[in-house]
Amino acid sequence: MINKAPIGVFDSGVGGLTVVKEIMNQIPGETIIYFGDTARLPYGSKSKETVITYTRQIVRFLMSKGVKAIVIACNTASALALDTVESEINIPVVGVVKPGAKVAAETTRNGRIGVIGTVATIQSGIYNEILNKSNSHVKVFGKACPLFVPLVEEGLVDDPVTFEMAKRYIGELLEKQIDTLVLGCTHYPLIRETIRKVAGEGITLVNPAYETAKCLAEVLEDKGLKNDDTPKSDHIFYVSDGAEKFRQFANTILPCEVVETKDINIEELV
Ligand code: DGL
Repeated sequence: MINKAPIGVFDSGVGGLTVVKEIMNQIPGETIIYFGDTARLPYGSKSKETVITYTRQIVRFLMSKGVKAIVIACNTASALALDTVESEINIPVVGVVKPGAKVAAETTRNGRIGVIGTVATIQSGIYNEILNKSNSHVKVFGKACPLFVPLVEEGLVDDPVTFEMAKRYIGELLEKQIDTLVLGCTHYPLIRETIRKVAGEGITLVNPAYETAKCLAEVLEDKGLKNDDTPKSDHIFYVSDGAEKFRQFANTILPCEVVETKDINIEELV
């Protein structure tokens, strides 16, 4: 039964777990196979060609596990590779950028939206493009925050260094009178409290993870792929390096216990 098949979710590292958490909360009947490409992180400083190559390899790996749908829980890969891989496979692919842009467009009151993300995501201009399509009066201000991903991967989520970097990165956007700030990298919700301290209470922080899980639920429903069974706990987590470190981090984020994380060499496997 295809409905019983798992959902494949991936990111360059732990960031995609912010999306996994939402999927587990919103559609607990689904089993997840996660891949974190920790050996090749960060994606945000790589070229489009490289991110497409990595994304193709991971999609092939997840499909070899019999997944019924794929969630690209990475803004960088969603921005640079989603359209390409979607046209190459015959199962649904959900990314994080469109759902995030949708919430931002619905949230802003003054039409001034800040987007923080990796260098690749910001340079792609994808949030700008999607937001302007939905409302041509919206003004989008992007800011790349390249040091946030390594800080999160190092576990420095509540640390003075992260706070200092947040002041430097976000201070510039605050001068633009934004009223909405999109956390346009799946790692950033993990430092939400620090970002909140810098941005203040008057700015709405948009975490695309919630809307992405909602979008996945709708796609599964539409395609008759939803698994309505009892809540699952047999999720499987793969990484390309540092399995134990990843496992410990995952257990601080997810609502269920991650007992094991498997190390694999994705380049050998696909
Ligand atoms: N978490 C990812 C994103 O949403 C990737 C970060 C990176 O590897 O640079 O963009």
